[in-house]
Amino acid sequence: MTIIQTPQELQDLLKNETRSIGFVPTMGALHHGHLSLIERSVKDNELNIVSIFVNPTQFLEGEDLDKYPNKFDADEKICELAGIDILFYPKKEDMYEDDEIKVISPNIRGYVLEGAMRPGHFDGVLTVVMKLLNIVSPTKVYFGKKDAQQLSLISQMVRNFHMKVEIVPLETVREDDGLALSSRNVYLDKTQRKQALKISSSLKKATQLVIQGKLNTKDLQKEMLKVLAP
Ligand code: PAF
Repeated sequence: MTIIQTPQELQDLLKNETRSIGFVPTMGALHHGHLSLIERSVKDNELNIVSIFVNPTQFLEGEDLDKYPNKFDADEKICELAGIDILFYPKKEDMYEDDEIKVISPNIRGYVLEGAMRPGHFDGVLTVVMKLLNIVSPTKVYFGKKDAQQLSLISQMVRNFHMKVEIVPLETVREDDGLALSSRNVYLDKTQRKQALKISSSLKKATQLVIQGKLNTKDLQKEMLKVLAP
């Protein structure tokens, strides 16, 4: 596996590439969720690339940019063992200059749900994903369905900008107890972990009710709130 640090070097290396390229963009601290994306990429493509870049523009003031888990040595091993050919590990100064042009997420869809709690977060995500896709020019790019709003906005960006890449969305990987795997789960103490689990439990409850034909959203909301109650 080759480790490449600058966009220029990577673009030079890929200049005459004719093989299919699979790409998994990450912020590192890889877990089984990432591994499922990597394994699928390796299965589908002839040349496989993972990027590790903790993208500063998607973190808001006061968020965990400075303490985001860094496990580069372990990540490198995981990628190598999984059959990745190129690990792209750029520095911030190689990815951004001052006062840049940005991708701005759509007014409504980018600023509801997580976007309402983290205004500007998705602008940062879309901007870096646009950069990464332009640098790598992959045939297929792999994202987890866990970050559903991110996946939906990236799909819209690819559609709106007529980008050629195919997006492959993959299922969320969960712990045995139902908690979705996330690099940030290490922040949760026992109580918070229990609370986090209620999110998947409440969604499961709603799914069961819908399967039973109960489609009234107010009733579904009431039942979900019962599960979420402390
Ligand atoms: O999902 C992530 O890890 C990040 O948001 C991404 C897509 C790598 C962009 O920084």
